Amino acid sequence: MKQFEYISPCHFGLEAVLKRELLDLGLSIVKVDDGKVTYTGDENTCARANIFLRTTERVLLKVGEFKAETFDELFEKTKELPWENYIPRDGKFWVTKASSINSKLFSPSDIQSIMKKAMVERLKSVYKTDWFEETGSSYPLRVTIHKDIVTVCINTSGVSLHKRGYRKLTSKAPITETLAAALVMLTPWKKDRILVDPFCGSGTIPIEAALIGARIAPGINRTFLAESWNNIFDNNMWLKAREEAKSQELADITMNIQAYDLDGEIIKAARQNARLAGVEHLIHFQQKPVSELSNSKKYGFIITNPPYGERLEEKEALPELYKEIGKVFQALDSWSYYIITSYEDAQKYIGRKADKNRKIYNGMMKTYFYQYMGPKPPRTKNIIDSKGN
Ligand SMILES: C[S@@+](CC[C@H](N)C(=O)[O-])C[C@H]1O[C@@H](n2cnc3c(N)ncnc32)[C@H](O)[C@@H]1O
Repeated sequence: MKQFEYISPCHFGLEAVLKRELLDLGLSIVKVDDGKVTYTGDENTCARANIFLRTTERVLLKVGEFKAETFDELFEKTKELPWENYIPRDGKFWVTKASSINSKLFSPSDIQSIMKKAMVERLKSVYKTDWFEETGSSYPLRVTIHKDIVTVCINTSGVSLHKRGYRKLTSKAPITETLAAALVMLTPWKKDRILVDPFCGSGTIPIEAALIGARIAPGINRTFLAESWNNIFDNNMWLKAREEAKSQELADITMNIQAYDLDGEIIKAARQNARLAGVEHLIHFQQKPVSELSNSKKYGFIITNPPYGERLEEKEALPELYKEIGKVFQALDSWSYYIITSYEDAQKYIGRKADKNRKIYNGMMKTYFYQYMGPKPPRTKNIIDSKGN
């Protein structure tokens, strides 16, 4: 069976979550690096990875890897790659992004133009033509150079995978859908436990939790660039992967997910986003300040992304806000709290040191995922009657 190698990038700090997702899909891990995981899979992997993965931004098909310290080497080694296996005669191809770390070659525009020339040279001799119309499907390349090792990939996803298609309206400082999904997956929350986000903004965390709980694949309602690459993949794989995803959805479930925010307009937007994601019926939205949060249920979960002082006047209000968070959470004493914020003094004002703290990079911004674990609920004993039921 034909095997392909892929690379999927993720937020720095979330590699382990992505690795677990890939293993759950039955794929083989080649290696885990900072901010990306390399894996292999069969001819259906491209569709399954794009449709099922919740925590990656892209599924990149790896074309090759080589060492290059000069532009001549870059040209020659790019030309040696079997481009005809990937790009058809009418394909549109270009290096959409080139990034370089600790390497001799670092000018993105030079890397882009030299690699394009080398690909053209190769394809000219294979297709016996001097001119490429480039009117067919698109094959955008992503190139990374790390310590002079050039890794060449084609982006199969197209638009980033965090764009699930449901978030039309956002709050001032939204987190990506991929990050929100990863946060939920980093906690032991399960769909039968209560979940509250008191700072829900555009609803990203509750919506991603509802999708996870209902086993709705994140990419089920969108399309991917590689769907037109019938020179590489069998078109059937998309249909098969969508059928697999649909068959896993839990149709008749109920969940107790509650989403609150001080801002009434953003609550309306969050509800609209949940509707588009098909999970509005699973989330209770309400305009409410965190100070009014209370709950008589036990062993609940809070997963939330409070303000972290994007603007100066907000920064001044942070000590009071985080003290309030500490007070409200203390009252929910059997609950577990998970808070993502870039506010350095969060623990100080919450008034309790987190049981665990994970550093996660949200783009260039360093954030902390503070984890306060509550007690586990007592196990419900199965009572067996005299008939053994
Ligand atoms: C960083 S944003 C959350 C973004 C959200 N995770 C998303 O993806 O859209 C913080 C949210 O907290 C809300 N907020 C600020 N102060 C609040 C308070 N005292 N009680 C409840 N919500 C508050 C803001 O309106 C804002 O939507």
